[in-house]
Amino acid sequence: MSIKDIITVPDETLKKISSPIEKVGQNEKKLIKDLFETMYHSNGIGLAAVQVGILKRILVLDVSNKKDQKKPISFINPIIKRVSNETSIYEEGCLSIPDTFIEIERPKICEVEYIDIDGKKRNLKCDGLLSTCLQHEINHLDGKLIIDNLSKLKRDLIIKKISKNKKDPDRIIV
Ligand code: NI
Repeated sequence: MSIKDIITVPDETLKKISSPIEKVGQNEKKLIKDLFETMYHSNGIGLAAVQVGILKRILVLDVSNKKDQKKPISFINPIIKRVSNETSIYEEGCLSIPDTFIEIERPKICEVEYIDIDGKKRNLKCDGLLSTCLQHEINHLDGKLIIDNLSKLKRDLIIKKISKNKKDPDRIIV
């Protein structure tokens, strides 16, 4: 297992659409392990393969309370089949958009069809935090980010701030 670098905005890869997996092989299993390790290392509760620069429709989640036992779930080729009319709002952050939190309204409940790490087709009805996280991560697979619904002005300001933090070297006088 290895911890991967997480890419951040304005990296254009984040806007790309990830490709479906045809067969769950050793590469996919290793990628899932790496995604979990990277996610836990970054204190995130969800991570999509595209966020480590790999355009495959794979994502991992663990929305369990940190004090509880870990509850890792991996999703391959997830498809949302049904959503509720009822919505919920969370203030969402994203490992690819550091230090930014945006209130997002999403369907409260969603039903997802996916393939698990053993290549088995599964269905899951998700509610609450799990539902919101899953929808956030599936958006990543389609190249969508939580800043996409903001005005261009606000979005540009956030990206500018993040880019500046990334590139500003330490100033020293010697
Ligand atoms: Ni994210």
